[in-house]
Amino acid sequence: MTHSNINPWHYPRVDLAKQYLDSLDIGLSNSIALFAHRRSGKTEFVTHDLLPEAEKRGAITYTVDFWANDQNPSECIITGVMNTFHTLPVRKQLKGQPLKEFKASLTGLSAAIENPNISTINQAFSLMSQIHRGDAKKVVLFLDEIQHLATEPAYSTVAAALRTFIDKNKDWLTVVFTGSSQDGLNRLFSQRKSAFYNSTAIEDFPLLGSQYVEFTVQAFSDYTNLSIAISQALRVFNDINQNPEVFSQIIKGLLFSKRNDIEDFYNENVNTYSTSADIQSRWDALTDLDSSVLGLIKGLIDKDFSCGLYSVKAYSIIKEESGADTVTKSTVQYSIDKLRKAGWIYSTGRGQWSFEDEADLVFIRSQKDGGEGPPE
Ligand SMILES: Nc1ncnc2c1ncn2[C@@H]1O[C@H](COP(=O)(O)OP(=O)(O)OP(=O)(O)O)[C@@H](O)[C@H]1O
Ligand SMILES: [Mg+2]
Repeated sequence: MTHSNINPWHYPRVDLAKQYLDSLDIGLSNSIALFAHRRSGKTEFVTHDLLPEAEKRGAITYTVDFWANDQNPSECIITGVMNTFHTLPVRKQLKGQPLKEFKASLTGLSAAIENPNISTINQAFSLMSQIHRGDAKKVVLFLDEIQHLATEPAYSTVAAALRTFIDKNKDWLTVVFTGSSQDGLNRLFSQRKSAFYNSTAIEDFPLLGSQYVEFTVQAFSDYTNLSIAISQALRVFNDINQNPEVFSQIIKGLLFSKRNDIEDFYNENVNTYSTSADIQSRWDALTDLDSSVLGLIKGLIDKDFSCGLYSVKAYSIIKEESGADTVTKSTVQYSIDKLRKAGWIYSTGRGQWSFEDEADLVFIRSQKDGGEGPPE
């Protein structure tokens, strides 16, 4: 599938794309997994930079977005395969298959998008193998938000089918995974019982930085003939935790109001754009008990609480802070389970916890300690 690259606001990262593709081309591994927290530009990078670069090198690319229908990963896979299939040249579509048989399998797949099952995913996979087996150029399969497959036990059969397909077809297939939950990725790639155990190394995806800000400021000035002071733009970008989505909303706000004083504009609208507004509402939505447990996890990280989450001391703090009648081991376990599912924390092993998003930790420090940094 071809992704046109005409969006003048897209900051291209062609070198980074080449770097990843080179490592796949060399063949040391047939997959890479890119990790970065939510809204950091993973999908945009893969769809606007990496896949077009792969296509320039002659590859055919497939995209599966597991959030397209979060209740039905099989449907996401079949839709992803069919989307690219329809763009292939006819000679490629027909490769190696008698026309009648081929049409039958396609009709089956199209119908199955409504109500797919494992056998139809396998049909989709065998369609891909039929078409690409023996291809000189590798196919790139992009699996966006793969950690979604770790969220329900019911999805493990889909994960297993996918892993088998990837392993069996290494000759012509390379895979790019992305994920925004450290917890989900760990469960998928690092747990022995998981289908994807040890299948690939997880790489930290480099976040957008000052060059992206400079690029955006330049695009703004090309478009409007107004110039934004770069030092102000960088300060605002830092204040919103380097979130490119919020930054682009601020730039849009300036465009609409024909202004270039980004810092004043941001300060006037800080409630709309501040990323801590979002954290605040997620924090407010927590029960007192869950926020107390989160506070203790912050305390363990900052070393101002040392007794452990399953200690009498922890139970009594949680009881006092939440007003709960009783707090036991299972109360804490239940709360931790909720907090990891909601994307606050992930396990770093042996009962240790970290925050999925550093910005959340900074925010909780400000709630608990009344300041920005950890206590001295
Ligand atoms: N290279 C870029 N140039 C310009 N803007 C960008 C770029 N990358 C990301 N953005 C902005 O950030 C937003 C979020 O990016 P994207 O959807 O790629 O993040 P993500 O990491 O895939 O998020 P999620 O984990 O929620 O799927 C985009 O909609 C866009 O506004
Ligand atoms: Mg994404």
